[in-house]
Amino acid sequence: MRDSFGREISYLRLSVTDRCDFRCFYCLPRDYRGFATPEHWLSPSEIKCLISVFAGLGIRHVRLTGGEPLVRKELLEITQRIGEVAGIEEISLSTNASRLRQQASELRKMGVSRLNISLDSLDPSTFEKITGGNLSKVLNGIQAAVDVGFHPLKLNMVVMRGINDHEVEKMVDFCMDQGLTLRFIETMPVGRNGIEANRHFIPLREIETRLRQRYSLQPAAMRGSGPARYFQVGGTGLVIGFITPQSQHFCDTCNRVRLSVEGDLHLCLGKENRISLRDMLREGASGDAIAEAIIAGVRLKPERHSFDQPETHVLRPMSALGG
Ligand code: GTP
Ligand code: 5AD
Ligand code: SF4
Repeated sequence: MRDSFGREISYLRLSVTDRCDFRCFYCLPRDYRGFATPEHWLSPSEIKCLISVFAGLGIRHVRLTGGEPLVRKELLEITQRIGEVAGIEEISLSTNASRLRQQASELRKMGVSRLNISLDSLDPSTFEKITGGNLSKVLNGIQAAVDVGFHPLKLNMVVMRGINDHEVEKMVDFCMDQGLTLRFIETMPVGRNGIEANRHFIPLREIETRLRQRYSLQPAAMRGSGPARYFQVGGTGLVIGFITPQSQHFCDTCNRVRLSVEGDLHLCLGKENRISLRDMLREGASGDAIAEAIIAGVRLKPERHSFDQPETHVLRPMSALGG
């Protein structure tokens, strides 16, 4: 399946819930009330049905996202059903890890092959200020994921000036010690909070320059479908990645679309373009009809985001699509 700019779409990011047990200040407003109602959530069997159609159109990798995917009670069933779909070669998951200690082993057994974990600070008080959550639970979750054999395990750090930018070197040391991959992410002006947090934006080139004073960085390859650019940190086993949606966007190689918990197919994280698949599904539309709708939707995929144009910023919180 190709979009109108010739980009092949093979990666689906599936949000299994828009709820979260954290309130990261760049993502989910503390007073947010716009959550989807349970009647509108896609059920595990509806998800399987849609994933089968996507697989028929060339989707090979499904990443489970949230909100926080581990708060969805049917997560294991959803994972199992996706695993039954012919053509899906990889199921991965992005999590805040707060509930990972209890679930890491079952997720692995159920066929999740890779985990990406958000970790913005190693200082309990800064961590609490950014996320509203508890650092030690997250560190226990990371340890559990290592113990059950998830590898590579990638940590995502949104780097923000004046908030956690002083922790970059500490995070590098931590990931080196623990055998983890570290990715730095630029803030994105998505949702009310994202727009606000973008005041702390740092172009990651600054971080790269800082790290090059300590280490040599050689371009490296890393398993994954996302937009990170990777480097091997000279003389060590560590690989670091840079995700630069603003300073060096990667839209020309975009290979992904997103499905919300309510069954809306979103064509771009930074735009509003979307089509609803849930109603078609619930009205009994055939797989072919749904496939046609997806193909028509993918033709609406915008060429690129417009984070540099404040008047077109999207107001849906990042948590609605899980990044
Ligand atoms: P891998 O398969 O491991 O490469 O996963 P990934 O990097 O695609 O997944 P993850 O959920 O860890 O996303 C990392 C960061 O990249 C998040 O902050 C996402 O919001 C961001 N990201 C992923 N895809 C896009 C995209 O299409 N556009 C933008 N602007 N950001 C994206
Ligand atoms: N800017 C950049 N990254 C964000 N994420 C959530 N909101 C934002 C934002 N406004 C990241 C999370 C997580 C990933 C799935 O999305 O930190 O690592
Ligand atoms: Fe929750 Fe992730 Fe948003 Fe933080 S970034 S509030 S962990 S959905």
